Amino acid sequence: MNSQRDMFLAGEGDQWFQRNKITQDTLQAKAAQDPVLKYLEKSSLTFYSVLEIGASNGWRLAVMQDRFPEARYTGIDPSTQAVENHFDNIQMYQATAERLPFEDGQYDLVIMGFCLYLCDRFDLFKIAAEVDRVLKDGGHIILYDFHSEIPYKNAYAHKNGVFSYKMDYSRLFSWNPGYESIEQVIMPHPGSDDMSPDNLVALNVLKKNAETVWGDNPYV
Ligand SMILES: C[S@@+](CC[C@H](N)C(=O)[O-])C[C@H]1O[C@@H](n2cnc3c(N)ncnc32)[C@H](O)[C@@H]1O
Repeated sequence: MNSQRDMFLAGEGDQWFQRNKITQDTLQAKAAQDPVLKYLEKSSLTFYSVLEIGASNGWRLAVMQDRFPEARYTGIDPSTQAVENHFDNIQMYQATAERLPFEDGQYDLVIMGFCLYLCDRFDLFKIAAEVDRVLKDGGHIILYDFHSEIPYKNAYAHKNGVFSYKMDYSRLFSWNPGYESIEQVIMPHPGSDDMSPDNLVALNVLKKNAETVWGDNPYV
């Protein structure tokens, strides 16, 4: 077994879930500190079908379901235990980011919250392609994760051979003229005011404009 993806499927996802489980009792406190939920409260984004990748037991989706009940909510996670113990009124499937078990163009919002830093580097192109495949044109992506202008890795504290990878994750999509970066907020890790480089996280919001960006040739 040499991929982080296999390790998370085989039990590391369950381990994360057991260490960090959000329950009905801790849900509101967690929600109050979450930059994704704060952004959605103040933004004018409209969405009717939401996918969260690496959603654990779907705690963020459950809060969204309560606040924006007109949408339907789906999550995936490699952890069997997280998926089995998911919050009500959302759908959860066991899967990983590079192979999404969904039809093309099903979602108008895709969220990845502290998931990409754990994904294998050789999966990044596949993950970007899968997110693009399931996202409707005109839809949005929210990426909330570690942030570094210079890509690097740290050893993961909980398992030998696993790494936490840091980079500017908006670049997975922003190179493509069919995606517009509409927000990037760089901040300290939640619960801290330490702005040192190893403690930075970012909230990135990108819009897919695949059809509209490709205008006719302006040079003829
Ligand atoms: C740090 S937790 C974040 C959970 C949740 N998104 C949140 O914001 O609280 C990372 C999650 O990503 C999941 N994960 C790890 N590797 C993954 C992969 N290759 N594809 C999808 N999810 C993955 C883990 O099982 C875990 O639930």
